[in-house]
Amino acid sequence: MLNVKTIAVIGAGQMGGGIAQVAAVSGFKVVVVDASAGALGRCQENHGKRLAREVEKGKLKQAEFEAAVSHLNYSGTLDDIKGADVIVEAIVEEAPVKRELFGRLAKMFTGSQILASNTSSISITEIAAAAHGASDRVVGMHFFNPVPVMKLVEVIKGLQTSDATVHRVIELAKAMGKTPIPANDRPGFVSNRVLMPLINEAFYAWMEGVAEPANLDEIMKLGCNFPMGPLRLADFIGLDTCLHIMHVLHRDLGDPKFRPCPLIRQLVAAGRLGDKTGRGVFDYSHPAK
Ligand code: CAA
Ligand code: NAD
Repeated sequence: MLNVKTIAVIGAGQMGGGIAQVAAVSGFKVVVVDASAGALGRCQENHGKRLAREVEKGKLKQAEFEAAVSHLNYSGTLDDIKGADVIVEAIVEEAPVKRELFGRLAKMFTGSQILASNTSSISITEIAAAAHGASDRVVGMHFFNPVPVMKLVEVIKGLQTSDATVHRVIELAKAMGKTPIPANDRPGFVSNRVLMPLINEAFYAWMEGVAEPANLDEIMKLGCNFPMGPLRLADFIGLDTCLHIMHVLHRDLGDPKFRPCPLIRQLVAAGRLGDKTGRGVFDYSHPAK
């Protein structure tokens, strides 16, 4: 039996916000934690707008909307997640920061709680090793962006993860209306091992003048039936996140074919992170664009 009532989501960015929304609509009590008060405020505001839009579209009844809103709680401190049965981490894609957090979570949660990471690429085995005494309960629960729309959850079993933990996470993903599919604990798992080199190559093609960004994207949309071109998708994911993932692939697989494109590095250095900062490859500062 799943036996999960409360889910804590750590990180109120685009992924944490989406995970929290879906969990609340699925009937779980949710506590969202973020180190930034601004991020928490934006997350709460987005939940109100997105859930209201679901009512407008007839996907949620008014009573379901009200239930979902009442399930959502926001906090700046880990003290408020003590009663959680599952913790889903969705903070920045940097291994040392995730390791530090899982070390703290392992001390806080000594029962049967699941400690899941939404990491895009970092070794679950490495994260679990930092969760002393709880490493069998650490698992990869990789959602896709935008979480309310995308069906997949890539489930990653670290070397130390127990079969029971994997089983519970699969059941939880199904209870959230998702389709869980297992992948092994290798850099980037399946999704980003395949997707990120494509995005990285699009930056190289742009850098080498093969096409202007808008044309490059249009060619991939119309020619390959992609819903978004790879450069638009990179902005949507976040160029900082794409760069972190490329670093993991490059370092952990040791193959020069994963070398991050200098253009991504440059845009990130300039603070052009994509949708989240209003400008990345493309400019989103004008509402009509
Ligand atoms: N959050 C929540 N819901 C969203 C959303 C968001 N950011 N963006 C769009 N939606 C939903 C809304 O319900 C929207 O309907 P309304 O506008 O009526 O509210 C619906 O999607 C359709 O959106 P649009 O009409 O604006 O646009 P669209 O038809 O082009 O669909 C899209 C938008 C679903 C994002 C589509 O372009 C798409 O599928 N893009 C590719 C997404 C993708 O590849 N995601 C994976 C990224 S990789 C990853 O996640 C893993 C990793 O580790 C990096
Ligand atoms: P984001 O930048 O939108 O949000 C990250 C949030 O984490 C920020 O609000 C930040 O304030 C908060 N944060 C950072 N360190 C923290 C800490 N120590 N404690 C509490 N809060 C902290 O990032 P995102 O796009 O939501 O990505 C989050 C995670 O999900 C990353 O591991 C990323 O690789 C993964 N992911 C991203 C996508 C995507 O398309 N963006 C898809 C799947 C998985």
